[in-house]
Amino acid sequence: MLTIALSKGRILDDTLPLLAEAGIVPTENPDKSRKLIIPTSQPDVRLLIVRATDVPTYVEHGAADLGVAGKDVLMEYGGQGLYEPLDLQIAQCKLMTAGAIGVAEPKGRLRVATKFVNVAKRYYAEQGRQVDIIKLYGSMELAPLIGLADKIIDVVDTGNTLRANGLEPQDFIAAISSRLVVNKASMKMQHARIQALIDTLRKAVESRHRG
Ligand code: ATP
Ligand code: PRP
Repeated sequence: MLTIALSKGRILDDTLPLLAEAGIVPTENPDKSRKLIIPTSQPDVRLLIVRATDVPTYVEHGAADLGVAGKDVLMEYGGQGLYEPLDLQIAQCKLMTAGAIGVAEPKGRLRVATKFVNVAKRYYAEQGRQVDIIKLYGSMELAPLIGLADKIIDVVDTGNTLRANGLEPQDFIAAISSRLVVNKASMKMQHARIQALIDTLRKAVESRHRG
């Protein structure tokens, strides 16, 4: 049995067409279903529907053999417990710092609100900069507006969310896209099956970006 962990929303929406090219089609619409384990057209392949930030945990522990996770989530998760064999080139965005338009940085310690606490710590440590990191779970854009923080670190695509809240993108941290991740033991135990799937997905990604 091959178990693939996916999160609802853009990752599911963008991954299902790629899986379909490998002949893997869910037996029911995961966006509508309340089921968390969804069989597919291939009797030995099933989908697990998990939170985006939980995908690396399921795959590292072998609860899923494969998964699809944003590079932002993987950078925050850290660790060496997963293979990352393929950039699926979906859910593309940038990890950036952002702050209120036209507001100068404070003279004292910078306060940075983010759900990417580990990424933020590494980023400012590399710059030799002392900062206070404030962990949030969402709606980061609010923090500079009401004085909880001076800056945020979040993913930015069109910049519309920042603009709508009087913020501007500032420093680029990393280019983000979603990656196929594979459990290390699964890669050994089911090598031929998983390698064939990786090869098919790679071709699907390449042909999509050629045409
Ligand atoms: P959760 O809803 O569980 O808190 P999430 O909001 O990060 O997680 P999604 O919004 O589905 O989950 O995002 C999944 C991945 O898509 C993110 O990890 C990131 O890599 C990417 N992503 C997030 N926002 C955008 C965006 N606006 N445009 C393109 N890609 C994005
Ligand atoms: C994501 C992210 C940003 C926004 C950036 O939120 O958290 O707020 O996209 O995209 P933009 O630059 O195009 O505005 P999303 O809309 O996915 O909602 P979420 O917070 O539920 O993930």
